[in-house]
Amino acid sequence: MIGDRDRVLEATDLVALIGEHVRLERKGREHLGLCPFHDDRRPSMAVVTHKGTPFFKCFACGAAGNAIDFMMRYHRLEFPEALRQLAERSGITLTARRGDATAEHADRRADLIRANEVAARAFRRMLGGEQEGVNAREMLDRRQVGEEMRERFGLGAAPPSWDRLASGLEAWSRGGEAEGRLPMDVFEEAGLIQRNRHGEWIDRFRNRLIFPIRNEMGRAIAFGARQLDPEDQPKYLNSPESAVFDKSATLYGLDLAKQAIIRSKTAVVVEGYLDVIACHAAGFENVVATLGTALTAGHARRLAHKAEEVVLLFDGDAAGERAADRAIEVFFAGTLDVRIGALPGGLDPDDLLKTPDGPAAFEHAVEHAVDALDHLLRRFARAWASTEGLSGRQRQLEELLTRLARLGFHRMASLRRSLVLDRLAGATGLSTSDLLAAMPTESRRESASAEQVEVKPASIAREPTTAIDPPTPARRSAERTLASVLMSWPDLGEHRPEVLEIECRDPLAARVLDWVRRRRDAARARERGPDVVDLVTDTPESERAELDALMALADRRPSLDGDLHEQLASAVDDLAALERRAAVDAELRTTTAPRDAEELSRRLERLRDGGGRAAAIGRLSGSPRPA
Ligand code: UTP
Ligand code: MN
Repeated sequence: MIGDRDRVLEATDLVALIGEHVRLERKGREHLGLCPFHDDRRPSMAVVTHKGTPFFKCFACGAAGNAIDFMMRYHRLEFPEALRQLAERSGITLTARRGDATAEHADRRADLIRANEVAARAFRRMLGGEQEGVNAREMLDRRQVGEEMRERFGLGAAPPSWDRLASGLEAWSRGGEAEGRLPMDVFEEAGLIQRNRHGEWIDRFRNRLIFPIRNEMGRAIAFGARQLDPEDQPKYLNSPESAVFDKSATLYGLDLAKQAIIRSKTAVVVEGYLDVIACHAAGFENVVATLGTALTAGHARRLAHKAEEVVLLFDGDAAGERAADRAIEVFFAGTLDVRIGALPGGLDPDDLLKTPDGPAAFEHAVEHAVDALDHLLRRFARAWASTEGLSGRQRQLEELLTRLARLGFHRMASLRRSLVLDRLAGATGLSTSDLLAAMPTESRRESASAEQVEVKPASIAREPTTAIDPPTPARRSAERTLASVLMSWPDLGEHRPEVLEIECRDPLAARVLDWVRRRRDAARARERGPDVVDLVTDTPESERAELDALMALADRRPSLDGDLHEQLASAVDDLAALERRAAVDAELRTTTAPRDAEELSRRLERLRDGGGRAAAIGRLSGSPRPA
């Protein structure tokens, strides 16, 4: 008899499964797509179905495996949960119950999701309750959210009671099969209940309309809860962040929108829960919302392998403008095209779609959304045109250039770079070469090499490291983070050779980097390199405990947020930021006046690289201070 694992793998169409997550295109016998496990710029992941058990493989980062592996990595699931979800998807009943109760409870993430799912069902039931759901139903009726949408989005109600949910959960976790029970503290951790002064469990959401926030698999990971009584502030209450809920990387409605996003290659991002629902009801199904934040790199990561572009739609108020302005960072990161559209009359999608011409106007706004870069430059051109004085204009231009440099002007494709310069030239009447000359130096230096990678250890190595200086705690921790990523995957050094050139001040981190370097050199010479045992024996007894801790951290890394490439990039960023800050601090402590213009500009530049505090610059460029 074949086991559950094989039955599930056999029943799963891998191309269909991965195609639900990543936009795949057929190339000969294989399907190719952007790899969701690293920051992929051109399709590196293949789904291979013509050689025995189907598998996926990324030729850039090496991620590979079968359908279960894909689910485990993509959704960060443990094996039993990945198996269960795939079985459910194919309508297979699992025979063996895997693992004992303790093993299941070791999986905190799965528990948190189960707790949210249990609560979602309870809220859903209460929406239908004669008394319990009356306020929420009234609101939904008034907002014209029909039964079909209530069902599709799993909307619910928290009744105006202190403990309606809590007491239900208590009864539920006492009764039922031993296996299905969850301890109350899981519901507490999920932010659904809390203890009052007397130690009794009470509800956190009271008298609110409930929007389950789901992950891509459609499982509840959190809730958004809208006030039904204007007295109850805030207007929206969200579940706290948890092991399964990262607010700044979650998109409301993505589970329902992802197919349409993949099909249309476009994700439309709006502001509110009710906006998403109204759009889907009107047939615009590629629409999602951020949870009250701007579009971040975290959101972009979730969309990058599905869509080619993101269209941000805002009501056009100041907050919307700011959010649009921040989204430019995502655009500059280069994984997605970002366009920004304004809805007519300052209406939000929900209101707009209820007007007779609403759907047409909505479509028009999406189609005519402008490129994020255009958006930024148009705003700049408006401000420039309305500024009279030369110094005011100069400051504006400097600000913009600094911003562009920091956003990664030097990392942009050269075509896009000249586009930016051309447009700026058009707006300011300056020549592109003058503009390029005014661009902060660091970016000019780096723009020379077209193939700049994301991590920029050059700026770290460049700074003179005084090896005798012990690292600050922040620096030590950043260095150890870096060391643990490299220890977790020493071959990563092959992908990012520059990283290995970083000089660590923390002796332990320095030893790990040296170990990775020696392994790399040995591999190149096709010799056997040092292994973990060598690393341990090379480490003085007094540092062994800390090395142990570092190794334990390295072991956990693959299951932490972000793949190892991302973890490495962010560790390097952190180090670079610390180094820049140290340079600024050193500069600020320098009390001598600059000797000449050249020294002044050098010092200014160092400050600018370090974050360009306006105050500091003002102080330095003013008259020399008396010593
Ligand atoms: P809005 O205030 O525009 O709400 O906030 P809305 O979604 O349009 O709701 P209605 O139409 O007034 O009923 C937009 C989004 O900002 C977040 C929510 O995600 C909301 O959907 N938000 C707003 C909060 O997180 N907390 C708040 O207090 C308000
Ligand atoms: Mn609204």
